[in-house]
Parts: sequence; structure tokens; C-alpha cells
Amino acid sequence: MRICFVCLGNICRSPAAEAVFTHQMAARNDRASAEGAYHHVESAGTAAWHVGNPPHAGTVHEAAARGIALEHRGQQFNADDFDRFDLVVAMDTANVRDLLALAPDEVARKKVVRLGEFAPDVIGTARAGSEGLDVPDPYGQPATVFAAMFDQVETASAGLLDWIDSGGPD
Ligand code: 4NP
Repeated sequence: MRICFVCLGNICRSPAAEAVFTHQMAARNDRASAEGAYHHVESAGTAAWHVGNPPHAGTVHEAAARGIALEHRGQQFNADDFDRFDLVVAMDTANVRDLLALAPDEVARKKVVRLGEFAPDVIGTARAGSEGLDVPDPYGQPATVFAAMFDQVETASAGLLDWIDSGGPD
């Protein structure tokens, strides 16, 4: 499976999701006696502002605090990228909207999911409606918000991995 996590700037949330998912996948495969499933994982932004940039310091520090390796440079998600991935995992409603506008056809549109859908009991329970499944943008916020973002991402990423390991998309 080829997976791309997508946010707006590709310096805060989606590099965190890429690193967390990769970390969880490696841990599961280490525990498995049989050869586990290894997925190709990347992240990208809908905007081009941070192409080539390292992740935001808030994401770098929180990943380090959790023992999660973070190696990434910003890239923009383009229409052609739908061909490179089986699953395009958005962080919030705006990312989904932007990705659906970019998608060239129905096959591409069907690849777009939202990370929060894989942890509906946890993410955004305090908020009503569809946006309750969003991972909110922590850009410009204090370190505590980055930590909360990682908590959300870790929970939903584990749910996403469960879903993929049990069959994933059609
Ligand atoms: P991200 O956060 O989408 O989680 O990477 C943002 C990073 C940068 C900006 C906005 C959101 N920005 O406006 O530069």
C-alpha cells in the first residue's frame, strides 16, 4: 500500500502523521513473527509555501520527546500524485476539499480519506459535526497544542493501520 498524509503546509501535521504511522508500522512488524506488511509512506501539503523545508520546530520537538524519528522535507501534493498513492489521508476538512478539487477523476477522489475517521471516538469529541473529525492546525500555537496534535494523530494512525492491515480500501 502506498500512503500519503496531507495537510496544508506539510511542516506540522502531515510530517507528524507520516512519522507516527511509520513508527507504529515498524513496531508492529517487529512484534510479528511472520513478515509484516510494510507500506510506502510519504507526506505532502496542499500549499507550496514550505517545499524543501524541514518540519516545524513544534513537530520536531514533540517527535523527539516521543522517540519518533522525523526525516522529511516539505513537498506539495499535485494532481499527478494521485497516481503514486493508493490512499491520500487528509488532516482536516479543508484539506479534503482542496484534494477533491485537485483530483482528476473519480478513481482519485475515492483515494481521499480523513485521518480522524479512523478514531471517531477520540478525535474532536468535544466538537459537534463533521469538523469534529479534523486534526486542527497547530501552526503558531504553543507546544501543548503540538502535543495534543500528536495524541490525536497517534490514536487515529493506529486505527488507520488496523484498517489497512484488515483489508483497507476496496
Ligand atoms: P500544517 O500547518 O498544515 O499542519 O503543516 C501549517 C503550516 C504552515 C502554515 C499553515 C499551516 N502557513 O501558513 O505557513
